[in-house]
Amino acid sequence: MCGITGYIGYRDAFPIIINGLKRLEYRGYDSAGVVLYDGNQINLSKTKGKVSDLLKKFDSDTSKVGNLGIGHTRWATHGEPNDINSHPHTSQSGNLVLVHNGIIENYNSIKQELIGRGYSFQSDTDTEVLVNFIEEIKIQNNVKLGKAVQIALNQVVGAYAIAVFDIDKPDEIIVAKLGSPIAIGVGKDLEEFFIASDASPFIEYTRNAIYLEDGEMAIIKKRREVIVKKIDDDTNVDAKVQELQMNLGEIEKNGYEHFMLKEIHEQPRAITDTFRGRLLPEEGIIKISGLENNMKRFLNAERIIIVACGTSWHAGLVAEYIFEEFVRIPVEVEYASEFRYRNPIITERDLVIAISQSGETADTLAAIKLAKSKGAFVFGVCNVVGSSIARENDSGVYTHAGPEIGVASTKAFTTQITVLTLMALRLARAKGTMTSADYRMYLQEMERIPAKVEKVLEMDAKVEEIARKYLLSTNCLYLGRGYNFPVALEGALKLKEISYIHAEGYPAAEMKHGPIALIDDRMPVVVIATSRGHYDKVVSNIQEIKSRSGKIIAVVTEGDTVVRDIADHVIEIPDTEEALSPLLTTIPLQLLSYYIAVMRNCNVDQPRNLAKSVTVE
Ligand code: G6P
Repeated sequence: MCGITGYIGYRDAFPIIINGLKRLEYRGYDSAGVVLYDGNQINLSKTKGKVSDLLKKFDSDTSKVGNLGIGHTRWATHGEPNDINSHPHTSQSGNLVLVHNGIIENYNSIKQELIGRGYSFQSDTDTEVLVNFIEEIKIQNNVKLGKAVQIALNQVVGAYAIAVFDIDKPDEIIVAKLGSPIAIGVGKDLEEFFIASDASPFIEYTRNAIYLEDGEMAIIKKRREVIVKKIDDDTNVDAKVQELQMNLGEIEKNGYEHFMLKEIHEQPRAITDTFRGRLLPEEGIIKISGLENNMKRFLNAERIIIVACGTSWHAGLVAEYIFEEFVRIPVEVEYASEFRYRNPIITERDLVIAISQSGETADTLAAIKLAKSKGAFVFGVCNVVGSSIARENDSGVYTHAGPEIGVASTKAFTTQITVLTLMALRLARAKGTMTSADYRMYLQEMERIPAKVEKVLEMDAKVEEIARKYLLSTNCLYLGRGYNFPVALEGALKLKEISYIHAEGYPAAEMKHGPIALIDDRMPVVVIATSRGHYDKVVSNIQEIKSRSGKIIAVVTEGDTVVRDIADHVIEIPDTEEALSPLLTTIPLQLLSYYIAVMRNCNVDQPRNLAKSVTVE
């Protein structure tokens, strides 16, 4: 969590840093701050709230001059979100200024030591401790900033991406990384450099970026060079400059009111991009190179363990149904946070699939490391190219959904399911667990999915109308069976995340073991009742809700007549194979939560307390 951005060069740093922070707000938005340095004077402004609040403050009381600057948008860990705890933090002398994304776990013992040496602290943060620790080392050892950072970080326990500068050296910024991401944008002729938690803040200035690896730091010298070093042994690293593929259009709203709505509507394109070059129905081929290159590992695996968090965990649950049915291999789906701490039984014959949109989720990353240490082969399904998880896995596949900026995940979910379905189909063919006729049928049906998603999106206005009726609800129940049970969980998560209405997802049949007690005429129940999935049983569940006066919003297959007569509202989706139906049934649930949240005046793209990239455990 938290976003960092910085600039050193010949331009005004202010607009670059502010625009960068706006693009990084998905990482946290409890507070924001910027410091600018013009060679004489530091101009620092920080505030509780969003970047828009910071801008107001800047307008009224701070100069915007400086060709060097660093900025921060915060998701609070140590210390409540207030002005004082906001970053950047300065050292006691006022000479060092630092921003930090991560957690310094041993900050308290360092703090006590520094207090013993006469330091005092204004904030409750671990970051203020770190900047003073670096200063103390610099003074005691009479070394330059880079060396002091290195010595300090070798004594720090935790995770960090930092950017720090010294007012005595206005041509240099030091950055370092362990566990949290950091990218360095390299300007033309090395005249300028950009720093950011991801490349989006500098995409319009340069296409060349260096991604630091864990345990690396960089000394960035204006108009000269970037020196990358290992923090532990000071050796120089030959850092690769990568060419960025991202487009500006992908990170802007393009006329949509919110990123979430844009991303919901992007799903036909995103799913098509996930297929591209991989799904060839005419030839009867599925080709995913990460899978092909490791086919033996997959075919010899005795068990698949899926680890993930949040929405990605729900995609994992859908994959469990698909892999067990298509490939006939046992699958377990684990919350990464539980898996990593519960001493799980993992052997070399296990294959672990880690799913993560951001590729930065701390718990998922730790689960991968644990699985690897026990000899399991780890395969990653990530969206963000070059992310920590993508690099940590033994092999993997990208979803190619494009940047997802709305905090509530939408297109990441459907593209994760898409790629996992392709993998299961390919493996089913290789293992002989699916007939060739079924295999070909699935390939063709997969290819039709983007057009069918497009059709579901035509229900947008109808879903908006339904949303209006339930915007004042305080609770909501989501029910589904089989492949659509995880969709019910995901629908409930979407609603609670962005509208703050309490919602629960349940397997439809489990309703009678508890949630049915909650049903009365004020309780909306969203039921996924597609024609191929245990339809009659779900219809019975709907009857049970109706007899207790619950309000039914049903997602049904086109042409359904039975549920139409019982439900209060129906949303029709095109027919498809049951195993592929989550790709369609999810869409109206995304729209429903979106419209309810908008009508409740909630901040859809930046819901309270949440962040898109959870780099703390
Ligand atoms: C956060 C986000 C969710 C996401 C989860 C896992 O909670 O708000 O949208 O599903 O993290 O993130 P990942 O990037 O690993 O998929």
